[in-house]
Amino acid sequence: MRVLVLNGPNLNLLGSREPEVYGSETLADLEQSISGWGKALGIETETLQSNHEGALIDAIQQHEDDGIVINPGALTHTSRALADALRSVEGPVVEVHISNVKDREAWRAESVISDVCVLTIYGRGVSGYRDALRHLANRAAGPFETFRYGPHGENVGDLRRGGQGLVVLIHGGFWRQEWQRDTTESLAVDLTGRGFNTWNIEYRRIGKGGGWPGSAHDVLMALDFIPQLGLEVSGIVVVAHSAGGHLALWAVRRSRAEVSQVVAMAPITDLGQHAESGMYGAAEARLLLESGAPPVSDPGHIATTLVHGGNDRHVPPEHSSELAVRGGFDLITTSDGHFDLLDPERDHWSRIVEVIDRSI
Ligand code: DQA
Repeated sequence: MRVLVLNGPNLNLLGSREPEVYGSETLADLEQSISGWGKALGIETETLQSNHEGALIDAIQQHEDDGIVINPGALTHTSRALADALRSVEGPVVEVHISNVKDREAWRAESVISDVCVLTIYGRGVSGYRDALRHLANRAAGPFETFRYGPHGENVGDLRRGGQGLVVLIHGGFWRQEWQRDTTESLAVDLTGRGFNTWNIEYRRIGKGGGWPGSAHDVLMALDFIPQLGLEVSGIVVVAHSAGGHLALWAVRRSRAEVSQVVAMAPITDLGQHAESGMYGAAEARLLLESGAPPVSDPGHIATTLVHGGNDRHVPPEHSSELAVRGGFDLITTSDGHFDLLDPERDHWSRIVEVIDRSI
């Protein structure tokens, strides 16, 4: 597949422009990374940066690629012309912002192009471009249906039909807005290819009704919605990552869905410990505690497998090892980092697939 990657005004100054906001990589570094990420995903990429709205519109009108990734810079907030151009051409468009546009000046939170894009990624640094390419590859990998499982905008999930059972995927991201279900999509696509149905869910996060108890209630609603997916389900496994693991460990024992197995990858199981740690997500953990979240996870009688990488710099492995001892649960330890566990190409994944296979 071929993807056109467009960067708008002032992004030629990457590296020297407000490095505390946009990082120290230059545009040339970024374009080299984009080409490498594309190759690894089987995507041929073409990159273009322009400070001129018309040049970007011309490139959009002339493109013959399978999709577009665009960071329009400040044109994001004003250019109806760019939005119309994107609306007028074939193929999915992913909007990317390096910085957290929702957490800066109010005018940056407004995008006039979001509604013509299949996904908006922001606040993940330059790796947002990698995630955008990965999303386009995953969309192209096979069909999915998006269901609404509750009343809020974020109460949606993607069903991919693989044939048997159901694996529910719950993404992490420290209950923060910028991390969404595209991060667990590669696992969903992999499992669908192996013959499992998958339900990759979104939930509200802090700032938009999420946190405690909103995020946890959404996960519970998504599990209780399973009968309405219209599948003949022989077994349900929940695979969750990081803060998604924290939510899953709470929801599985409360759901009407008969979950036979939870696989919690690098889960946060001790909110108190995380709140005190000073690590990424500590402030969010504190907020959940203050809202009445139980300090320590307890999945009750549901069979649970904990998976944790020894090189996890975001959630210390003790979150898994201590829960494994407390609950008498299985523990798989690997040498991975926190986000490596989201990559189905890595060794740990075949061990998780074995656990899923046994439970479905
Ligand atoms: C940006 C955010 C925009 O608000 C800004 O005008 C940019 C870059 C980003 O990548 O974070 O130029 O799109």
